[in-house]
Amino acid sequence: MKSTKASLKSIASYIPTKILSNFDLEKMVQTSNEWILRRTGIEQRHIADNDENTSDLGTKAAIKAIQRANLNPQDIDAIIVATLSPDYFTMPSTACKIAHNLGLKNITAFDISAACSGFIYLLELAKSMVESGMKKNILIIGAEKISSIMDYTDRSICVLFGDGAGAGVVSLDDNFPIIDTHTASDGEFGDLLMTQRAQKSNICTPLSMQMKGNEVFKIAVNTLSSDVVEILTKNNIKSEEIDLFIPHQANLRIIKAVQEKLNFTDKQCVVTVQKYGNTSAASIPMAMNDAYEQGLLKQGSLILLDAFGGGFTWGSALLRFGGENDK
Ligand code: COA
Repeated sequence: MKSTKASLKSIASYIPTKILSNFDLEKMVQTSNEWILRRTGIEQRHIADNDENTSDLGTKAAIKAIQRANLNPQDIDAIIVATLSPDYFTMPSTACKIAHNLGLKNITAFDISAACSGFIYLLELAKSMVESGMKKNILIIGAEKISSIMDYTDRSICVLFGDGAGAGVVSLDDNFPIIDTHTASDGEFGDLLMTQRAQKSNICTPLSMQMKGNEVFKIAVNTLSSDVVEILTKNNIKSEEIDLFIPHQANLRIIKAVQEKLNFTDKQCVVTVQKYGNTSAASIPMAMNDAYEQGLLKQGSLILLDAFGGGFTWGSALLRFGGENDK
C-alpha cells in the first residue's frame, strides 16, 4: 500500500575547514577563553572562506543528503533553504543557487526566514507538501555563513556564532514518520535579536547582528521547556521514551537548563555547541549528522528536536528517523 506519511529519509552536513578558536578571539576582542567557556560552553566555531558562500556550504551538505537517501539529484522536486545569512539580500534565493549547483532546473526552490528555528519550520513545511501529494522528494537545508553578517568588534555576540550547513530529504514512508511538528512566533520581541532594518533608507546598510543576550536567554529557556512538554503531552510520549533529544545549539547553559527541566539524561541529549558554536538554521541538522555519523542516530530512532530564535520564532518536532545507516 502507498505510504501517506512524510519521513526524514536522510541527514548530512558540511562544516567549513577553518577553525576560529576562543584563543583566536582573545586576539580580536576583549574576551577570554575562560569567559566564553563558562558562559556558553563554546570552545571553537568553523568559519567559511571568503570565496565560500552559504549556497556552497548548502550544496555540499545537499549532495551527501541526496546520496544517503539513495536518490539522484533529478529525483528532487523542491528545495527549501532556511537561512539568515543568504548569498544575496534578498534575491536570487540561496535555494535557487543550490538548485543550479545541483544541475536542477524547473523545480520549486525558495528560502524561508525563521532564524534558528529554521529547520523545524522546514520539516513542518516539507511534511505538509509531501503528505498533500504536492511534492515527492523535498530537499531541506539549513545553511549559514553567519561570519558574513557578524561584527567582529562586538564581543557580546561575535563569540557565539559559527558557519556550517545541514541537509535532509523528506519523502513518504509510513514506517518512520515525522509524527508531529509545532511552530510558533511572537513578533513583540523582534528587537531583542535582529539584523539592521532593510528599509531604513535608500542606501545599503551593513547587516550585522545585534542581540540583548541576557533577555533572550531567559525567554529561550522557558519557551523551549514548555514547547517540549506540549509536544510530548499532545502525543502521549514520556521523555524517557525519546532516544535522542536534539535541541538547537546556542548555549550549553540553555541546553542543560532545558535538559534538567525535562529530565533528559546526558545519553539522550545531543550536544555539539562546543565544536560549532551557534550555526542558527544549520545547528539542528549539523547536530543530527554528528549523532548519525557516531552511530547514535539510527533508522527508527525516536527523536525530539527543539529550537528557538530571532523573531522570536520557536518550534519542536517529534519523529522516527527514516534514514538508512551508512554502509
Ligand atoms: N567576553 C567577556 N566579557 C563579556 C563578553 C565576552 N565575549 N560578552 C559580554 N561580556 C561581559 C558583559 O559586558 C558584562 O559585563 P558587566 O557585568 O561588566 O556589564 C558581563 O560579561 C555579563 O554579560 P551578560 O550579557 O549579562 O552575560 P550572560 O551571562 O547573559 O551571557 C550570553 C551572555 C550572550 C552568552 C547569554 O546571554 C546567552 O547565551 N544569551 C542567549 C543566546 C541565545 O540563545 N541566542 C540566540 C537564540 S538562537
